[in-house]
Amino acid sequence: MTYPNLFSPLQVGAHTLRNRVVHTATVSGYGASTRPTQRLIDYHQARAAGGTAMIVTELMPVHHTSLANPFLVSVYDEDNLDLFKRWAEAVEGEDCRLVGQLGHVGRQQLWSPLTTPVSASAMPDPLSWTVPHKMTLSEVEEIIESFVVAAERLQRAGFSGVELHGAHGYLLTQFMSPFSNDRDDKYGGDRLRRLAFVREMISSIRERCGIGFMMGLKMPCDEGVAGGITPEEAEEIVKIFVAEGGLDYFAFSQGNFSPSLENHLPDMHFSMRPYQHLHARMKKLCRDIPVMTLGRIESPAAAEQLLAEGCGDLVGFSRALVSDAAWANKAKDGSEGNIRPCIYCNYCWGEIHAGRGMTCVHNPELAEPHEIDWQPAPAKVARHIAVIGGGVAGLEAAWIAAARGHKVDLFCSSTELGGGALWESRLPGRADIAEAIAFQLARTNEAGVVFHLGQRVTAAEIAALKPDEVILATGATSTWPSSLVAGAEARDLRSATLDLLTSDTPRGGTAVLFDQDHSAAIYAAAELFAARFQRTIIMTPRAAIGSKVNFISQLGVFRRLASLRIETVPLSLPRALANGRLTYRNALNGDESEIGDIACLAYATPREVDEKLSAELGVFGLNVQAIGDCRAPRNMAAAIHEGHAAGLSC
Ligand SMILES: Cc1cc2nc3c(=O)[nH]c(=O)nc-3n(C[C@H](O)[C@H](O)[C@H](O)COP(=O)(O)O)c2cc1C
Repeated sequence: MTYPNLFSPLQVGAHTLRNRVVHTATVSGYGASTRPTQRLIDYHQARAAGGTAMIVTELMPVHHTSLANPFLVSVYDEDNLDLFKRWAEAVEGEDCRLVGQLGHVGRQQLWSPLTTPVSASAMPDPLSWTVPHKMTLSEVEEIIESFVVAAERLQRAGFSGVELHGAHGYLLTQFMSPFSNDRDDKYGGDRLRRLAFVREMISSIRERCGIGFMMGLKMPCDEGVAGGITPEEAEEIVKIFVAEGGLDYFAFSQGNFSPSLENHLPDMHFSMRPYQHLHARMKKLCRDIPVMTLGRIESPAAAEQLLAEGCGDLVGFSRALVSDAAWANKAKDGSEGNIRPCIYCNYCWGEIHAGRGMTCVHNPELAEPHEIDWQPAPAKVARHIAVIGGGVAGLEAAWIAAARGHKVDLFCSSTELGGGALWESRLPGRADIAEAIAFQLARTNEAGVVFHLGQRVTAAEIAALKPDEVILATGATSTWPSSLVAGAEARDLRSATLDLLTSDTPRGGTAVLFDQDHSAAIYAAAELFAARFQRTIIMTPRAAIGSKVNFISQLGVFRRLASLRIETVPLSLPRALANGRLTYRNALNGDESEIGDIACLAYATPREVDEKLSAELGVFGLNVQAIGDCRAPRNMAAAIHEGHAAGLSC
């Protein structure tokens, strides 16, 4: 076996796990009206069937004061018992332990302004500035009891255990951390009293559920804020929990709800496995209690190495298992090359934060009932399909259509495949995007797609091939900024970066990037500008930038721009550029200002579709389907999902 540590069994409490792969808690947004749904159960069952040894559910609120959004499953509701039973049967039936994550959001009310936020203190939440109600002693006791009752309920339903969500700045962290607990009663003051809330919870659950019921604690080893839980403080906390007993495992995850939020989900700009050293440090104190290491673990080999190097006993994955339900089976049976890799774009988190069901940028079959062994169904009649465009929409359509038995020819004007995604993958910090393209290329090669690269194909040439269907995926291009006088020396962002990518010669002067796009690629391009020009300015007609970067990754964008001293000029539109001086106008009051020493003006404006080829193909009477940006310019997820659907429809 290639990964002997990863696929060795482990005793966790009274349970033996078949291997070390754990799906960490992941809010899916698949619940409805506070109940688990079949979609949520299907999502977990697929991962259980895919070889995962243990699944921790998403955060389930234990009390009505924590019900932030009705798509979260209320574990305090006895009416959910039968659904909990169905959920447990589906997962446990696949030899996978189902563990319910019990939590309370406390002052971190993301979604529900009408629910009273509660906390250990009345100190405001540092990110949202929500000011909570400081719980009375009896209210604290009521919440502790609600955790215990919830654990008992899940035990009756057939769950193997519970995980207490003490990380990410939620209520348990709010009690444990000096950063958020200024009480002077039995639940605050010194360390032992700050921990009393969690210690009482652990001992009561153990007492009422017995030793056969697994109980884990997810907690930070670095809250990432001054005055919060530091690694040193985490060590002292761990020593206390280990000495008192009751816990069957620890999971360690960083950050709280402050500008350290981005540390919950290290995105593609982070190094791989950024917290492994912290986990190794905690593990030394945990004696024989298993430790779960987690966070941007990119491959089975990396997971194996973490186990071998003593960073953990269990390896937790959230996003990698969202991308591929069969991650564990593929790693075990030697077909890890078929794993659809997570690209750590955090699109999944962005979607649930926006109140929608979880979606993966390049796993369109996510949470469908057949997800685990999904293969494109063979076409009834094999046809000839011409795909024009080698970006991620065209590649997706091509491999799906070819895998269904169609003869597929793909035409791409560039000699390189990947289109806009390939460009983005070359910008600072965006390299993981290339993994999604590589996955598609492997599938196109397996399926026998024939490539015609490096020439702009004409409608007549396509017509001469007599394809049964044409899939058009030629993308879209930025338009000239409507506020800018014609003929000014400005370039669209993509072409402006191409020179900068081929040479790292310093350019001097000021670069202005006019941003009407607001996606993560724009700010990565700004980082590239900052590495070449003396001064970089992002100008936008909006009041702020980054509106299309998912909430959790936005902080990282702002942090990098700030550290590179990249300036932002909001509510502004470029007017004219002459003699190195850019005149721009306030978008609301029309006042004009100037910036001098301009060496580069680049724009990322709304994109337009070139309809010419589509019209010409129509003249030949060809059956044409436009997908992705050339249907309507959007993002990578839309391009891939639409390509997927097109491949299935032909
Ligand atoms: C969409 C999404 C929802 C999440 N929801 C939770 C949650 O409910 N509880 C929790 O403890 N962690 C949650 N997490 C964090 C993960 O459990 C995990 O700690 C984090 O994603 C790092 O692991 P990864 O790099 O394998 O994704 C969530 C992560 C994602 C991507």
